[in-house]
Amino acid sequence: MSSITHQYVATCTSGVEGVLAAELRGLPEVSNVKELRGAVAFNGPLRAGYRACMWSRTASRMLIELGDFRGDSADALYDGIRQIDWLQHMAEDGTLAVDFVGTSDGIRNSHFGAMRTKDAICDSIRERMDIRPSVDLERPDARVHVHLRQGRFTVALDLAGDPLHRRGYRRSAGPAPIKESLAAAILLLAEWPLAAEAGAPLVDPMCGSGTFLLEAAGIALDRAPGLGRSRWGFSRWRQHDPEAWSDVVAEAQERKHAANDREIGVFGADIDPEALRTTKVNAQRAELPIVVRRQAVADSAPPDSPLESPPFGLLVTNPPYGDRLSSRGGANQVGRELGRTLTRRYWGWRAVVIAGNRGLAESIGLEPVRSKPLWNGPIECRLLQFDVGDNPSGPPQGRR
Ligand SMILES: C[S@@+](CC[C@H](N)C(=O)[O-])C[C@H]1O[C@@H](n2cnc3c(N)ncnc32)[C@H](O)[C@@H]1O
Repeated sequence: MSSITHQYVATCTSGVEGVLAAELRGLPEVSNVKELRGAVAFNGPLRAGYRACMWSRTASRMLIELGDFRGDSADALYDGIRQIDWLQHMAEDGTLAVDFVGTSDGIRNSHFGAMRTKDAICDSIRERMDIRPSVDLERPDARVHVHLRQGRFTVALDLAGDPLHRRGYRRSAGPAPIKESLAAAILLLAEWPLAAEAGAPLVDPMCGSGTFLLEAAGIALDRAPGLGRSRWGFSRWRQHDPEAWSDVVAEAQERKHAANDREIGVFGADIDPEALRTTKVNAQRAELPIVVRRQAVADSAPPDSPLESPPFGLLVTNPPYGDRLSSRGGANQVGRELGRTLTRRYWGWRAVVIAGNRGLAESIGLEPVRSKPLWNGPIECRLLQFDVGDNPSGPPQGRR
């Protein structure tokens, strides 16, 4: 097993860098963790990169650096790419895809950068082997990533392959699912791991296809998010170390078994029966014990607890955005109902809401203790945190 230290960059949604850095700092053999914009850099042996693939709930891609060189022209790119011994990384008749990020006077768009990179890799292999790799944008053997920034190209291989938010449990999704990696980041920001450990319940009263519920149950049961994936970006990489990877899989299996009997309380509701069916299918596939029912947010209440004084819980939700003007009014109405439900029945709870428009945030009618910008795909959102009444002795008379 090799002990060479590699340089890695884990990419993420903007706004999530701090949570991703904390996740990486918590992994053995990871060092030099540095937050960048939309990414976190770190060092470690190959096993550290594999562990990051297996355990990071918030990263999108896991890039291992293959080389870097100065320049910003198309020729500098072509020459620099050819300096790398690509046969160390892929078979001559393998398949590849190239992602290119950055522009310069000589490389005016990322498509052109990706084409020059692909030409340089294919030419260098063909000159030696008389055969060249082909392009497969969907399921390549090697996904190469080139980043041009401030007169420097950095070349990397994507160890994840498919983006890491694709956990493998989701066969079907509702119309507006939140990405698994963003849902997990929101749960980590809301300190769900601590709450779950203390036995607190979690409720998503507008759960859609259940992304928050599945991620929350996965965290509470110490399930590695990568355990359900069968295909990785390193699966056909020539430097892949199967022994190191099987150590990482064995660790994850062991932790899964050790936490399997933990009691967790993860509850969801929605008015759409189709969304609830999807959630149940996904939960079954992921083998996660979550409870869902059909209910409007106006009727939502904390779950019954067998404990005499149950710990307060976490409500986390992603209300409809109302992205078309015609549905804004409907979204604001849902916001008002959520606000009323929180003050009437969730006294003492923490509520975290990802709001896709300002009107919705205002319609909740409560003062957030925290408001953080986050991107949900192309939609700029606000993550709002409400500590609903900080009087732990319960709601004022008549609120229930
Ligand atoms: C943006 S989607 C939630 C997506 C979810 N986070 C996921 O990942 O699939 C909003 C959900 O709110 C539900 N919804 C809308 N109005 C509701 C209401 N009054 N009560 C309960 N659920 C409602 C919709 O059916 C939809 O599933």
